[in-house]
Amino acid sequence: MSHFCNKFSNLNIKVKAGKLFLRSFSLEELAEKFGTPLYVVDAERIEERYIEVYKALSKYFAEFNVAYSYKANHSLSVVKLLTNLGAGATIVSSLGLELALVSGVSPSKIVFDGPSKSSEELTQAINTGVGIINAESFEELLLINSIAQNLNCVANVGVRVNLNIRANTHKKISTGLLSHKFGVSSNDLIRFLPKIKKLKNVSLIGLHSHIGSQILSLEPFAEQAKILAKLYSRVIKEFKVPLSTVDLGGGLGISYKVGDSNISYEDYASVVFSEIKSIVSKEGVNFPKIIVEPGRYIVADSSILLTKINYVKKLGNKKWLLVDAGMNDFIRVALYDAYHEILPTRKLNRKFLEKYNVGGPICESSDVFALNRKLPVMKSGELLAILDVGAYGLSMASNYNVRPIPRVIMVWKDKVKIVREKESLDDIIKKEKVPD
Ligand code: LLP
Repeated sequence: MSHFCNKFSNLNIKVKAGKLFLRSFSLEELAEKFGTPLYVVDAERIEERYIEVYKALSKYFAEFNVAYSYKANHSLSVVKLLTNLGAGATIVSSLGLELALVSGVSPSKIVFDGPSKSSEELTQAINTGVGIINAESFEELLLINSIAQNLNCVANVGVRVNLNIRANTHKKISTGLLSHKFGVSSNDLIRFLPKIKKLKNVSLIGLHSHIGSQILSLEPFAEQAKILAKLYSRVIKEFKVPLSTVDLGGGLGISYKVGDSNISYEDYASVVFSEIKSIVSKEGVNFPKIIVEPGRYIVADSSILLTKINYVKKLGNKKWLLVDAGMNDFIRVALYDAYHEILPTRKLNRKFLEKYNVGGPICESSDVFALNRKLPVMKSGELLAILDVGAYGLSMASNYNVRPIPRVIMVWKDKVKIVREKESLDDIIKKEKVPD
């Protein structure tokens, strides 16, 4: 019996005769063919997750937009896949907006978020006619109004409300409290409403809230939906603003570790629906169109980072596996102390009796993927698979230590394609100019 527990969030990862497979692909063979470090993306898994989200929402909501959050993974092949499936886009930058358009998202399905949008970005969004711009301050609304006035149009806006909700997640990815920088307080929204109503070139159509990421309990989402629905009803009834939309943000987490709770989108949709329904029915206002902005839930468990063990060494009383992937390739562990499952690509039928630290090639002590991780006895030259790296993996990769962003391959049924080449020095320096 191995100590390893075959309980992956992505059920397409399998163990056959002690070796690790993604669908019909041996991960060892993929690493041999394409080199390491290597991101392997399971396109069908992204499709499965998107469809799961879509079906869960369509069961409860008549009108909704699954505006996939590009920040989680903005690879062209990933965003195109999602666009082809019908997803909208949540973007937070000018190039994000262009990428959504290039991938074929219709402007009406684009949601523009962000706490500090520049006036150039707002001009571009208004010119494009994005579905909604979620403003995060009264000053931003004034700016949107004046840009739209110059362009002789009316911009559809939402206001991101800071509902002061504790999301119960890592402090660096928690966004819902008044101590954070996001949104306007409910009181300020109410205070500003008479002024917002006077702005001729903005049309306030919705309220928005995003309370944090990697949230694994339903309570904060229920609270968020309830408070937002109450505000939505109040704004319509008391202030006679004809709101039509409630944007619930993203934030639903995934199970990275055996034992993590696992909330499905179905659970989520059912809870937020009943909260909103009970309030809008009581208040006698129309059920809003719903926007959700999932990132992690759709892409996280689609991808694996394959890395080769360069050295095995003992230092003090610790055994180290020094691998060829670093925090530049995947920063979540270094930045958030995140836990990611790490498995060998073979020997999965052996006992996991050794305890190893797993570190990368970068010259800083935070370049570590795991501490005291149980694995079979490992040798240099063997491979490890870091799981669930599809969200905030490649999108946060960098050239730190003059390292290339690694190669990315995508598998689909029995096919495999390189979707991003490993960078060369030329890629890294091509935008630079050296003065004489
Ligand atoms: N909407 C807004 C306004 C957001 O700020 C975010 C994420 C999302 C939607 C998508 O949230 P998701 O569904 O992916 O939880 N780099 C961190 C995560 C930062 C999340 C930032 N905002 C990590 O690796 O955990």
